Amino acid sequence: MKVALGADHGGYELKEEIRKHLEEQNIEVLDLGTNSPDSVDYPRYGFAVGEAIMKGRAELGIVVCGTGLGISIAANKVPGIRAAVCTETFSARMSREHNNANILALGGRVTGPGLALEIVDVFLNTPFSGGRHGRRIELIAQIEEKGSI
Ligand code: RB5
Repeated sequence: MKVALGADHGGYELKEEIRKHLEEQNIEVLDLGTNSPDSVDYPRYGFAVGEAIMKGRAELGIVVCGTGLGISIAANKVPGIRAAVCTETFSARMSREHNNANILALGGRVTGPGLALEIVDVFLNTPFSGGRHGRRIELIAQIEEKGSI
């Protein structure tokens, strides 16, 4: 599995922790920046990770900004992206099982590194349940494609 990472300055430190954590587990990482604590615009990184997933350069993504909110909103504008902000492991598991989320969003100023890495592990190791949840994902895709259900 290849995981794309992206962060702004508010998420840079946590993104670095996540990258090391994944590399320790021999998970392939596509690090799309940012690569310093200097101030940058989070939409660029949310878009970069979303685009990488939709172009097949990675299967799943993790984006981090100060809250996880702005960067997830940006990523969710990429057609086919389902980015979920998670602050605990239950939502991370549900985001995969029920919502087939393809991006996890975290807040570097919200969630400490210990919990964040647990959330990452749950997100990456939980499969989509399918079944009735697949029908609902299709409805989300319809909204995206037709602007209506
Ligand atoms: C940057 O200061 C901050 O606005 C950003 O990291 C993020 O929290 C936006 O949602």
